[in-house]
Amino acid sequence: MAGHQKEIEEFGNNDDFWLFGYGSLIWKPPPHFDQRVPGYIEGYVRRFWQVSEDHRGTPEAPGRVATLIDRAHWDTLSDHHEPTERVWGAAYHIPAAKVAEVREYLDIREINGYSIQFTPFHPALDSKPIKCLVYIGLPENPQFLGPQDPEALAKHILKSKGPSGENREYLFNLEEALLGLSEESRDKHISDLVARCKKIDSEGAGTCESR
Ligand code: BEZ
Repeated sequence: MAGHQKEIEEFGNNDDFWLFGYGSLIWKPPPHFDQRVPGYIEGYVRRFWQVSEDHRGTPEAPGRVATLIDRAHWDTLSDHHEPTERVWGAAYHIPAAKVAEVREYLDIREINGYSIQFTPFHPALDSKPIKCLVYIGLPENPQFLGPQDPEALAKHILKSKGPSGENREYLFNLEEALLGLSEESRDKHISDLVARCKKIDSEGAGTCESR
């Protein structure tokens, strides 16, 4: 078995682990953790380019949620927004006794189109990085959309909803949670989408009729 694959399959079998959240995990933590640490990872770009058929949309009308794109791959794409050098989020320490339960919860909650990677996490208040597990919607997965026009994306978010609630709630919660992490943790891609959604909504174009 290749080293990376073995690492993924064996993670948390016996030991505690750290999980990095850059999307809903920031404001909706896993069911068990004994530490939550704000901080960032590098080498990725957060984008609202992942289809959600199970949480913020349905298979018939999929919504949009955050994913991470490897920075080297992002450099080959044509995007409307500049990347931030750091992806801010929250890391959770999962104690060994709760690993199986949390892993099962995550597989059910999040695995739709996402793959596991490991990456160094930099705590906001500590210089020593921590190895963290992170879920990423790789470009080859069918839920990955690639670059989106921000105005069309905002309109799509406004009209989408799924079993976990309105798509816009995910976006607004994410922005608020990010702003609460650090003075540096604002993400322009997220803030721009929020501003567009609020403007479209205030102009009456994001109402039920247009969904
Ligand atoms: C998160 O960081 O919230 C997350 C994103 C995608 C899959 C799992 C978790």
